[in-house]
Amino acid sequence: MSQHISIRGLRAGYGTLAVVHDIDLDVRSGEVVALLGPNGAGKTTTLLTIAGILPRLGGSILWNGVDQHVPAHRRARSGVALVSERAVFRQLTVAGNLRLGLGEPSRALELFPELRPLLRRPAGLLSGGEQQILAMARALAANPAVLLLDELSLGLAPMVVNRLMDSVRRAADNGAAVMLIEQQVRRALAISERAYLINQGRVTASGTAEELRGELEVGSMSYYTSSPVRSPDQ
Ligand SMILES: Nc1ncnc2c1ncn2[C@@H]1O[C@H](COP(=O)(O)OP(=O)(O)OP(=O)(O)O)[C@@H](O)[C@H]1O
Ligand SMILES: [Mg+2]
Repeated sequence: MSQHISIRGLRAGYGTLAVVHDIDLDVRSGEVVALLGPNGAGKTTTLLTIAGILPRLGGSILWNGVDQHVPAHRRARSGVALVSERAVFRQLTVAGNLRLGLGEPSRALELFPELRPLLRRPAGLLSGGEQQILAMARALAANPAVLLLDELSLGLAPMVVNRLMDSVRRAADNGAAVMLIEQQVRRALAISERAYLINQGRVTASGTAEELRGELEVGSMSYYTSSPVRSPDQ
């Protein structure tokens, strides 16, 4: 189903303490939107609030124009997938992890055939890259309408990052609305339509990926990012 998530004046945080203030952002079907910014800026908090895992403290989150206060497990069934760092069940085998997903394990293996020889291995014994691939495979097998991704590339080899980024782009091309938190700014912008920079819980810049790439060239954006800007082939 086509999705348009429209967020206005979002306040989010922990307990009564807001760490995200007055955030406006939009993501539509077919789009990859990058959320960029330094450590502690509020990116994960924003994503978890959109996913319904953290309660919001204020503002609205409209899904196709409707403000839904839907618990996280119901959102999962309505096609929202969240993939955060190596979110696998470590005691279960790869096959067991795939069976727990909402999609067909065979679809997951079609997308990531490299998991096939690992099916009987406990997920906790996989490498970091293999775990991240497993988490993505499980999420993508369900053809989610909305894909929320938190730092896919963390600590992974460039080849694995390429595989994951390609799969993210393909999911959007197939109609998913994708929100991507990423420290590897250039890699994120390479597959995104648009991006938002978040700093100290507020959106401090936004634009098309091309516009933000331009700002990177002149160096004005490196200020907003915590990691040194690296080119995709580094
Ligand atoms: N469970 C928590 N309880 C209280 N404060 C928290 C909690 N989790 C995060 N915070 C605080 O909220 C702020 C935003 O954190 P968040 O994890 O959203 O940042 P981030 O942009 O995802 O950073 P990073 O790039 O390091 O992952 C930080 O000041 C952080 O210390
Ligand atoms: Mg984070």
